[in-house]
Amino acid sequence: MKKVLVLHGINLNMFGKRDPAQYGTVTLAQIDEEVKVFGRELGLEVDCFQTNHEGEMAQRIHDAHTDGTSAVLINAGAWTHYSYGIADALAILEVPVIEVHMSHVHGREEFRHHSVFAPVVKGVVSGLGVDSYKMALRAAANLLS
Ligand code: DQA
Repeated sequence: MKKVLVLHGINLNMFGKRDPAQYGTVTLAQIDEEVKVFGRELGLEVDCFQTNHEGEMAQRIHDAHTDGTSAVLINAGAWTHYSYGIADALAILEVPVIEVHMSHVHGREEFRHHSVFAPVVKGVVSGLGVDSYKMALRAAANLLS
């Protein structure tokens, strides 16, 4: 079974408590469960990882080179908008990377409109809540088939 790595960055462990107008009340554990169940329907194994530490995120991305990961979904939270370190780590990967956001980043504050990951990702799914992850996983399945 092909393995898809789902990465969650800074502050995303607070989904469920954080700004429900933007992110709803779903918790990260519920998101991970829903994405894993959908992965099984698509014939994919989903591995989820969250950290608030940029170096740990870079290390997890490096580990994806050798752990059999076939595609990566990443919601890096605010790092999306400024972390060249995470962008560089993603750029080293040879597998497809899809950027994900729960909220509609282009309808929010200006600083959220820019992604430093844009040159290194296949595409972006934003604004659809948990469905952003599920639509990105569907796209990953299509890219891998
Ligand atoms: C987010 C959007 C980012 O701008 C924000 O910093 C987050 C969450 C989203 O999922 O909508 O932490 O990535």
